[in-house]
Amino acid sequence: MSEAEILSVELTEAFIRLITKHTGLKIRERERESLIKKIFLRMKALKIFSPEIYYKVLASHTIYSYVEWQKFIAILTNTESYFFRDKEQFKLLRNHIIPEIIQRQYHSKTIRFCSAGCSTGEEPYSLAIILKELIPDLEEWNLMILGLDINKEALKKAKQGIYTAWSLRSLDIKTIQKYFIKFNNKYYLDEQIKRMVDFQYTNLVTDLFIHPYSDFRDIDLILCRNVFIYFESTVIAKIIDKFYDTLQPLGYLITGHTELCGQKLSKFQTKLFPESLVYIKK
Ligand SMILES: C[S@@+](CC[C@H](N)C(=O)[O-])C[C@H]1O[C@@H](n2cnc3c(N)ncnc32)[C@H](O)[C@@H]1O
Repeated sequence: MSEAEILSVELTEAFIRLITKHTGLKIRERERESLIKKIFLRMKALKIFSPEIYYKVLASHTIYSYVEWQKFIAILTNTESYFFRDKEQFKLLRNHIIPEIIQRQYHSKTIRFCSAGCSTGEEPYSLAIILKELIPDLEEWNLMILGLDINKEALKKAKQGIYTAWSLRSLDIKTIQKYFIKFNNKYYLDEQIKRMVDFQYTNLVTDLFIHPYSDFRDIDLILCRNVFIYFESTVIAKIIDKFYDTLQPLGYLITGHTELCGQKLSKFQTKLFPESLVYIKK
């Protein structure tokens, strides 16, 4: 019997519902086969022989389930990222949005950015590079750049700040020489840029953002790009509400192009630049 035959349609659908509830990820029809392979891969690693039992493990609220979700998420999520991904959006950030935020925050000298779904760190580190280049007296400022992700393995790599040439593919030679040291075909990110970013394990779907111990508040800019393309639209709506609550008035939300198509965004003011549409907390 093939794996697809062992796993009934009903149980496959139950897995899909559980995954969406837990992570927000939408499993499309064409992705079912690959999902089934991933389920069996994890069952093999755990020496579980029945998909029903694996389902029960994931659905339970135990430490065993929590640990297994980490492993499962590591193979379910797409962590593709690179420095200054979407050059046009970064041009807009560097030339308009970030200078405006710097000017607005000049008196408090406090800036709070967030990269939600930061994967291996290229996105928040790109923001750090821009801030370093735009603020001459950086040490006088109170800066927070927070990278959030559900994938602990990606966060571990992000904290290391060691990349292959593939992650640097849209950078020019000068920037590479300025911010990286090349050693044994790996690129080590400048320590000062690394220190500018904090990483935090966060599930955008299930975690509450606003609580007394959270740094995720009064944010000037949230980047959440290439995350919602994988999500169910009802889940996106809930996360957008949470983003809204964590933004400063006039704070920016930027997603990947068209990622918020069909969402109700009346709370936000939208502004269309030639490079991108952006959302501003009214
Ligand atoms: C394709 S990467 C995008 C990385 C970066 N934002 C970029 O555009 O280059 C998507 C990331 O979203 C993360 N992700 C998926 N579901 C998530 C969730 N529920 N909470 C937090 N992060 C999530 C994945 O782990 C992955 O690292």
